[in-house]
Amino acid sequence: MSTHELFATRASRMKASEIRELLKLLDQPGIITFAGGIPDPALFPAEGFSAAFQAALSPEQQAQALQYSVSEGYVPLREWLVDHMATNGVDCGLDNILITSGSQQALDYLGKLYLSPGDTALVGWPTYLGALAAFNAYEPRFDRLGINGNRGAAEYAAAAGEGAVKFAYLSPDFANPTGETVDLRGREALLDLADELNCAVIEDGAYQALRYDGDAIPPVLALELARKGSIEDCRTIYCGSFSKTLSPGLRVGWVVAAKPVIAQLVLMKQAADLHSATINQMAIDHVARACFDTHIPMLRRVYSVRRDAMLQALQDHMPDGVQWTKPEGGMFVWVTLPVGTNGAELLARALETVKVAFVPGGAFFPDGSGTNTIRLSFSNSDEDTIREGIRRLGEVLSA
Ligand SMILES: Cc1ncc(COP(=O)(O)O)c(C=O)c1O
Repeated sequence: MSTHELFATRASRMKASEIRELLKLLDQPGIITFAGGIPDPALFPAEGFSAAFQAALSPEQQAQALQYSVSEGYVPLREWLVDHMATNGVDCGLDNILITSGSQQALDYLGKLYLSPGDTALVGWPTYLGALAAFNAYEPRFDRLGINGNRGAAEYAAAAGEGAVKFAYLSPDFANPTGETVDLRGREALLDLADELNCAVIEDGAYQALRYDGDAIPPVLALELARKGSIEDCRTIYCGSFSKTLSPGLRVGWVVAAKPVIAQLVLMKQAADLHSATINQMAIDHVARACFDTHIPMLRRVYSVRRDAMLQALQDHMPDGVQWTKPEGGMFVWVTLPVGTNGAELLARALETVKVAFVPGGAFFPDGSGTNTIRLSFSNSDEDTIREGIRRLGEVLSA
């Protein structure tokens, strides 16, 4: 018997991600890609990082930078995050924050912490593919969380069968993949639902800082704090990330939650990787203190122009029957094709005939539905490239 026949049952639920496969195409010459939801590397604060790593490797700091460290994370960075969360209406202390290796690690830990096989995770339909992959390993069932309005708690509980509804996961600002934002009423209604179901809320704030227009809406955690008075009484767990703002390569994210949740996550981190790379946390701390407040407005300016270019190009080149979202921030526009048009087939055609890449939408649905959708990212192409890519896509769709 070969060892792959010995894999645990969860292994059969792990599938190769279409996004990862697609990222391999980025190296091919001449491809216009709207596939990866990645920042433009030209906008990285590279000089800031250069200075930060030099400082971390200086004689004064190198012993700390290169040594083992505590699982909770680098204290100055957690202190910066306490202030950062306060500016978003979240009053918390150092013990409410854990640094993770990207927010992806937090999603994995939270799946591991909450989901026994057969429990229910409420997720958007579609939702972030990486969250589905992270939760899926813990063998849950998925149920559908509406973006602005949901079924009643009793209905969700009944559908959960033998298991329990353990959490609702959402990315309330400029979600991946749709670019949509949950309004204030939707956030309040979600908190009501979570209270009725007695489940946790996992709030993914990956794109929260990248708002281009409209007024900021408080995070779900801030709204719950306003209701309950103390983070220790909150059921919302906030996952943050520096990936979309400073650098994804350094793998630094964070979790904000009540202390018992953080304490349990710390145990999981000790078992998984002891701690996130100290030198990376020091570098992020250095750069965040030096330029977060000027860097974010710059990103907003650049990305909002790209978003506008994509929306205008879609208007100019899409044939009748194609619809798309109008995101107020983030990196994505979500396109719904006429019923019967398959996003995956369109990708194959677009790659072959006009060298344009995007992500077919089906992968973002837990049940594989939504085959007539595609996700376009505008963050990593300049306006001319966006216009040309969308023009070509229109050509394929009209053919
Ligand atoms: C909604 C969302 N959450 C989390 C992540 C993971 O980001 P990271 O692990 O780099 O923080 C991503 C990355 O694309 C994302 O789109």
